Amino acid sequence: MDKLWSGRTNGILDSKADLFMNSIKEDKELLDFDILGNIAYSATLRKIGIISEDDFSIILDGFKKVRHVLSDESSLLGYEDIHSAVEGELRKIVGDAAGKIHTGRSRNDQIVLDEKLFLKEYSIELMSFLIELKKNLIEIAEENKDVIFPAYTHMQKAQPVLFAHYILSYFEKFSRDFKKISECFENIDILPLGSGACAGSGYAIDTDYLMKILRFKAVTDNSMDEVSSRDYVQDIIYALSCIMIHLSRICEDFIIYNSSEFSFIDISDKFCTGSSIMPQKKNPDILELIRGKCAVVTGNLLQIIVLQKGLPSTYNRDLQEDKKILFQAGKETLKSVEIFKDILKNITLKKEIIKENISQGFLEATDIADYLVKKGEKFRDAHHITGKLVSYCIKENKSFNKLTQKELEGFSELFDTDFQQKITAGNCIDSKITSCGTNSSIVGSKLKIAYERLNTMLLKVQELKERNTTINQLLKEIKNEMD
Ligand code: ARG
Repeated sequence: MDKLWSGRTNGILDSKADLFMNSIKEDKELLDFDILGNIAYSATLRKIGIISEDDFSIILDGFKKVRHVLSDESSLLGYEDIHSAVEGELRKIVGDAAGKIHTGRSRNDQIVLDEKLFLKEYSIELMSFLIELKKNLIEIAEENKDVIFPAYTHMQKAQPVLFAHYILSYFEKFSRDFKKISECFENIDILPLGSGACAGSGYAIDTDYLMKILRFKAVTDNSMDEVSSRDYVQDIIYALSCIMIHLSRICEDFIIYNSSEFSFIDISDKFCTGSSIMPQKKNPDILELIRGKCAVVTGNLLQIIVLQKGLPSTYNRDLQEDKKILFQAGKETLKSVEIFKDILKNITLKKEIIKENISQGFLEATDIADYLVKKGEKFRDAHHITGKLVSYCIKENKSFNKLTQKELEGFSELFDTDFQQKITAGNCIDSKITSCGTNSSIVGSKLKIAYERLNTMLLKVQELKERNTTINQLLKEIKNEMD
């Protein structure tokens, strides 16, 4: 297939070199975005008389056909990249008129445009999935609002909390991730066209018009920066890594809680597999795979950082590799969020086992120290007394609620007859009065607020959708202009 640049080199390219630099396998993801950008750009070339009215109508129809032809992946084969494929197929359909569409631009600014258009659409899809995931988190917290759950530090039983409080801790993490994606969107939302190869364009390209019809919020200020920078890709992969790290942690929690040693939760058979040899096994493979995919995406983060290190100004072909990295990170994250939100709908709490577990781990110890402090003891001494009490219970194989008044008084005279009634897991929970704590009325109001926060996030996605366009939308607008 003829190269767009074959004039200079006579197109004599080693066949291995040709294959080596080919990016069509990755670029196919960009087909619609390349056509969208091409339609908008042709419209601005028409405004300055480079493309005639007649040719423009022919070209518009041509692009619709190109989209159809190239949606069959086999017709992409042989092209160097998506830009060559779109221009090459357009030439086959409309002939010479296609020769004008590249006037005043370069593949260097074109690829940035395609990637930014892709990322705007991708971010919106991911944010919508994150909202669903968070909705499912709230629902499972709500359904199990009264369940008391053991919180762990150092993988050792720490303090009783509400299960809803535990689940809402992930709501917070994913909310920050949502915000990160929406901040990335703002950095992506800058029109690169007008940059050309690196110095700008010698044609009076109406970039304000392009900005408006392609729904960007601003036009780039510096052509050299625009064609050389991929920090907008790096930022989004960082945000994706955060999502994957958070997913890997909740998956790890669930894998542990689902194990027969813990048995706090049961993951539906729909999301588990069996063993080919051990008939008793029910393995949480999907959760393990999400944890594994976290390694892939965080690896992608390092790849995109190293890709840019020490690159000379401005565009260098190294940057082509960013698509492989971005698409891998993008797909793995989207798939992981999508499946994890479904897993959330398919877990059941084993409440009796959790209750039994709570009664055994001395989880109320910190509250016993606080009990003594409230009766006048210094915290350090109260901590020491409680530590001794725990050792005694372990030796005597007793839980706190089996201690007699006499036994308690042997440790401190401040232990009163209200001890057993005050030191229950429920009271420990409600004794936490800071606004970030597990107190049941605080958690109840946080749950309500979480629904409101979800609504705000939905509005954000709605706003971003309006700041995005599609081929059909653009064609409609251009047609209205022409009428
Ligand atoms: N496939 C290239 C990329 O992804 C497009 C830009 C090519 N520019 C060039 N001067 N060869 O970066």
